[in-house]
Amino acid sequence: MGKRLEKAVDELRRRREQALLGGGEDRIRKQHEKGKLTARERLELLLDPGSFEEFDMFVTHRIHDFGLEKKKFYGDGVVTGFGEIDGRKVAVFSQDFTVFGGTLSLAHAEKIVKIQDMAMKLGIPLIGLNDSGGARIQEGVGSLAGYAEIFWRNVQASGVIPQISAIMGPCAGGAVYSPALTDFIFMVRHTSYMFITGPEVVRQVTHEDVTFEDLGGADVHAARSGVAHFVYDCEPETLQGIRKLLSYLPSNNLDDPPFVDAGDPADRDISAVEDLLPDDPNAPYDMRKIVEIVMDRDTFFEVHRDFAPNIIVGFARLAGRTVGIVAQQPMHLAGALDIDASVKAARFVRFCDAFNIPIITFEDVPGFLPGTAQEHGGIIRHGAKLLYAYAEATVPKITVITRKSYGGAYCVLSSKQVRGDVNFAWPTAEIAVMGPEGAIAILYRRELAEAEDPEALRARLVEEYRAKFANPYYAASLGYVDEVIEPRETRKKLIWALELLATKRDRLPPKKHGNIPL
Ligand code: HXC
Repeated sequence: MGKRLEKAVDELRRRREQALLGGGEDRIRKQHEKGKLTARERLELLLDPGSFEEFDMFVTHRIHDFGLEKKKFYGDGVVTGFGEIDGRKVAVFSQDFTVFGGTLSLAHAEKIVKIQDMAMKLGIPLIGLNDSGGARIQEGVGSLAGYAEIFWRNVQASGVIPQISAIMGPCAGGAVYSPALTDFIFMVRHTSYMFITGPEVVRQVTHEDVTFEDLGGADVHAARSGVAHFVYDCEPETLQGIRKLLSYLPSNNLDDPPFVDAGDPADRDISAVEDLLPDDPNAPYDMRKIVEIVMDRDTFFEVHRDFAPNIIVGFARLAGRTVGIVAQQPMHLAGALDIDASVKAARFVRFCDAFNIPIITFEDVPGFLPGTAQEHGGIIRHGAKLLYAYAEATVPKITVITRKSYGGAYCVLSSKQVRGDVNFAWPTAEIAVMGPEGAIAILYRRELAEAEDPEALRARLVEEYRAKFANPYYAASLGYVDEVIEPRETRKKLIWALELLATKRDRLPPKKHGNIPL
C-alpha cells in the first residue's frame, strides 16, 4: 500500500471510529444508566449478525444558530442502512439519543428519507427504531419540513411495504406521528414513552399533574389508547419481537408471506377443542386456546393483546402458510363487538388484505355492545369500519362459527354476503337476528304481559325459538353456511380451504380509493 493511500485509509478509520461513538462516551454511559441500549447496539440485536451496512455515516447538520454551528456529530443523531432478518433484506433507521436527544434536523430527516425511498424501490420492509425528542428546535421550520417529508413517504409506502416502528425512549411531537402512520408499533416497558406534548406542557396547559408513565408509557398505549401493538419488558425482547413479526410477513405487497413448514400434520388430533366448549351457551370459554390448538403448533403470534381483549387478532401458520386470525373472546364482554374491538380488528383485516395474508375468523359474538357509552362514542361509525374492512378485503376469507353469530355481527364477520369464501359452522352454532331471550321479549311483549304464568310462557317460547334458530341448520339450508363440521375436523378443513383458495383472484372496482368511515 502506498503512503498516500495508507494515510487516507487511516483518516477514514479515524472518522469511522469517531462516528461509532455518536454523542461520546459520557452520553453513551448515561444512555446505559437509563437501561437503554445505543442506536448501534440495537441494530446489532435486531439484524442477522454482520449483515448491517451503513449509509450516510458522515452526514452532519447545517444549522448556524444557537451555537450549533460549533457542535456537530457524525451521523447527526440517526444511524441508517440495510441489513437482513432471517436472511431477508430490510431497511432500517435507528435514532441516537446521545446526539441532541435523537432530535430531527433536516439532515437527519434526509437520511431517513433516503432509506424510505430505497425501501420502496426495492420492495423491502422498513423498520424504524425511534428514540427522539422530536423536531430539533434550533432548526426551526426546516425540521418540520423534514418530518413532513417522512410522513408523506410513510403514507406512500402504506400497503406497499411493511413498516414497523419501535419506540425505544421518550418520543415526542413528530417522533410519534411517523410511527403512528406505520403498520405496527412496539414499545418497551418503563423506558419508552409516546406523547404529543410531555408532562411539563400538559401541566402548563391543562394543570394536570401526570407522570411520563401515566401519560404515555408502554402499558397505557398497549391497553388504553391502543397506539402500541406490542409491549415487552426490555429492549432485547422487543427487538426479537420485531424479528418474529417479520417472519410472518411478505417483503412487499406483490410478494407472498414466507412458507415455514412446522411439520405439524393436517390430521393432528385436535379433539381437545371439544372439551373447551361449555354446555351452557352463555358460559365463557377461552377462544385463544381454541386458536392455538387448531393452528400449527406454537405459531400463534398475537397482535394488540392488551387492547380490546373481547376480540383476538394475530398471525399464525396453517400447514406452513401465514394466516391472519380474527376471533371473539367470550371471556371478555361475552365477545361482544364494541368500539375498540371494531377498530382493532378493522385495522388488522386491512393490513392482511394489503399484504396477501388470508383471514380466518373464529366467530362467537352475541352482537354489538349496547349502551349510551357505545352509542355516544360512535359505535355506528366505528362498527362500520369493521364491516367495511371485511367487505373490501379480497384475500381468502374463511370463517368458523363456533357458537353465536347474532345480528349485525353475522353480516360483518365474513358472511357469504360480504364475500366470505368458505364458511364453516360447528353444530353448536346459533345464527339469527338476535338471541332467544331478547327475541321473545320483543315478539311476545303483549302476550307475556297478559299471561297468567309469564315465566312458563317465556320458557316455552324461548325453547321453540332455540329449536328453530339457535342452530346452524336454518342458515345451512339457505347456503349461508357452506358446511357444518365437527369441531375436531376444524384444522383439517381449514387447511383444505386455505389450499383451495391459494389461487383466488378477486379485485375491487377501479376507483381512486374508497371512503372508509373514519
Ligand atoms: C433540541 C432537544 C430537544 C428538541 C431534547 N433536546 N429535545 N434539543 N430540540 N426538541 C436535547 C436536550 O436539550 C438535551 O441536550 C438532550 O436533547 C437530551 O434531552 P434531556 O431533556 O436531557 O433528556 P430527558 O430528560 O430524557 O428528556 C427527554 C425529552 C425532553 C422528554 C424528550 O428532552 C423533552 O421533553 N424534549 C422536548 C420534546 C418536544 O416538545 N419536542 C418538540 C415536539 S414538536 P443536552 O445537550 O442538554 O444534553 C414536533 C413538531 C412535529 O416534533 C410535529 C409533527 C406533527
